[in-house]
Amino acid sequence: MKSKEMPFGKIVKTEKTGDAVVVTFEHGELEITAYTDFIVRVFADLSGIHPASFAIEGNKKTGIIVSVEEAKGCVTFTTKELIVKIRDEAKVDFYDKHGKALCMDYRGERKGAKTLSLEMKQFVEQEGHVLTEKDANHRIQSVKKLDAGDCFYGMGDKTGFINKRGYEYVSWNTDDPFPHVDSYKSLYKSIPFFITLKEEGVFGIFYDNTNRTYFDFGKESDDYYFFAADEGDLNYYFIGGNSMEEVVRGYTYLTGRAPLPQLWTLGYHQSRWGYRCEVDIREVAENMKKHGLPCDAVHMDIDYMRGYRVFTVDEEKFPDVKTLSKDMHEMGLHLVTIIDPGVKKDEGYSVYDKGMEKGYFATSPDGETYENAVWPGTAVYPDFGREAVRKWWGENHRILVEDGIDGIWNDMNEPASFKGELPEDVVFYAEERKTCHSEIHNVYGHNMARATYAGLKELTGKRPFVITRACYSGSQKYALAWTGDNQSLWTHLQMAIPQLCNLGLSGMPYVGTDIGGFGSDTTKELMCRWIELGSLSPFCRNHNALACKDQEPWKFDEETLEIYRKYLKLRYALLPYLYDLFRQQEESGMPLMRPMVLQYEKDHETRNMNGQFMIGESILAAPVVEQGATRKMVYLPEGEWYDYWSREKLEGGRYIIRKAALDECPLFVKAGSVIPHYPEMDHVSKEKDKTLILRVYPGEEGEYFHYQDNGEDFAYREGEYNLYRISLKDGQVSVNLEHQGYAHVYENILVQCKDEFINKVITY
Ligand code: NOJ
Repeated sequence: MKSKEMPFGKIVKTEKTGDAVVVTFEHGELEITAYTDFIVRVFADLSGIHPASFAIEGNKKTGIIVSVEEAKGCVTFTTKELIVKIRDEAKVDFYDKHGKALCMDYRGERKGAKTLSLEMKQFVEQEGHVLTEKDANHRIQSVKKLDAGDCFYGMGDKTGFINKRGYEYVSWNTDDPFPHVDSYKSLYKSIPFFITLKEEGVFGIFYDNTNRTYFDFGKESDDYYFFAADEGDLNYYFIGGNSMEEVVRGYTYLTGRAPLPQLWTLGYHQSRWGYRCEVDIREVAENMKKHGLPCDAVHMDIDYMRGYRVFTVDEEKFPDVKTLSKDMHEMGLHLVTIIDPGVKKDEGYSVYDKGMEKGYFATSPDGETYENAVWPGTAVYPDFGREAVRKWWGENHRILVEDGIDGIWNDMNEPASFKGELPEDVVFYAEERKTCHSEIHNVYGHNMARATYAGLKELTGKRPFVITRACYSGSQKYALAWTGDNQSLWTHLQMAIPQLCNLGLSGMPYVGTDIGGFGSDTTKELMCRWIELGSLSPFCRNHNALACKDQEPWKFDEETLEIYRKYLKLRYALLPYLYDLFRQQEESGMPLMRPMVLQYEKDHETRNMNGQFMIGESILAAPVVEQGATRKMVYLPEGEWYDYWSREKLEGGRYIIRKAALDECPLFVKAGSVIPHYPEMDHVSKEKDKTLILRVYPGEEGEYFHYQDNGEDFAYREGEYNLYRISLKDGQVSVNLEHQGYAHVYENILVQCKDEFINKVITY
């Protein structure tokens, strides 16, 4: 349904209601609402629907007191932190509390959109070029003034460099297996949130519209940037803050934070499409052990199902999943199975029959169940926007849970469709409200992940392990995400850093790429460099496409195996640090993998940094992502640093060149840090509570909080956790147990400075 267009005219009336003001113009209304002193929503009802947000759960308004002043042609709306001026033609300008302009509506017309004659199009297309016209007149658009130094971040998984300045994107979840390059405007995820970092000042904008939305960060013009749509409403949240960190905190306050995962899920995952039978899975597990490769999970792609029917198992190829999972558990491994949304049209197949009987599938406008095709052939699409459907879907996982499956991987949930995209008018529901595909498309995967999360939580009582490919804002509450079908290309290894970092800034901290590359054949060198980066990504899984060259670590030579092992060991050593970061993330929204600019935004040098990143605030990682490179140029921000490998102390505030042979991933630690490590382990087990090693990097006095719990369920929310305060003073370390709620305190805490253990501290 097309929305009303937006000419508003002059202000005629203003009405203040608590934390909001409704400004009436000659031709429409704007509602400005303060959610917190830093978060202000701008809403114009153009669709006549007033849809509930899919991204925001519960009431996030905090009862802010606002002041509203009226003058001719201008209404001033003030919170403790922001001043918002609403003027004729619904122009909205945001200032900080001191009156410094942050975000101004652009006053001119958009320019520069191409209009192509048919003749010109046909002429150029002869050689295969594809020319697309750009719509200069979206029905809904918010055009903002662009300043020279403005940088942009966020937008989920979009291609390109970390700074989105000069890029244009479309938020429309898209499954496209061709190599993802900068010209791709859409990928699997639609996270319509960006951060604008100015020469001075920072803010975020979340355009909460699930329809197809358009973003242009100065590609069309150097004078403005914009976000736009043809359907839905003008419905955006301005998120202010004193730093990027505060903006991320605000955005994740609104859309939610990723719940603490089970600890084992942070271990290594081995996958491929397709391990065709039980023997293949057992072989992977045995090889991991045989080659001394730490591992916690093996994934089962679509091959385990009977004719690709979801919630079934092919009993010829996988005769006894229960015993298989039991054996895997005994080896310290977990099994994760894929589940796609498309349900095979097949009378007699219980999932299809039940869904049909209950009317749980999307329909065509004439009321007939809508059919398209995916792996099982003709398939129908569950309507996840309805609570009853989500409940039913969640409950369907019982068969897998009873078979001992530990996690669910949601794929193809853009939703993918082999017979052309679903028409816009396919009927879906947003709870009770009848709507159509164009509004639901971008939240289809989000709602599927939500159903899966709730189902697993109900069935297991554990923290659900759900992976999703398609996302919308807020999906982080239900699932982690991987970046879909990348390829074994150096450019895709390079893209992994900005892509994962921007996902983190977009509220999704638990993310990873297919290590080694999914499509096309990988090489030894690429594999080595990818595991160096992948072992430091929040989600660490090697996955590979059917018919591509094998890329399990033992499928190369001895050197590759050694390098692979070295980085898996590094990952397992760092697990307590990563877990601490997860716990902090749940409280602050700060992602684990952080672009340099998030940690050092005042240092302009970091604003376009694509080749290195921070893991938490202490570790700087600068993986090699170029073929043949044996040196890496690394920027060490102001302060003192230690080389993680050599322990050499280095002065910051400069670029250095670090040698980086094939087995070396340059890593640095900020002076004054304590990094908790586990002793060597081959999977996450109860051993985790025996010994903790505190690696100390002397510097200024510091404090570090280490978190420990059972790593499995939600008992921590009832206080069943331990919190250790670790203080660093005059080169000495002391540990205090600040909170004890989890029974297993460490038996040993060892402090390691240089390569020596300097003391052994236990203070309880
Ligand atoms: C597409 C997914 O992106 C990929 O990871 C998976 O292996 C295939 N579908 C087959 O299920």
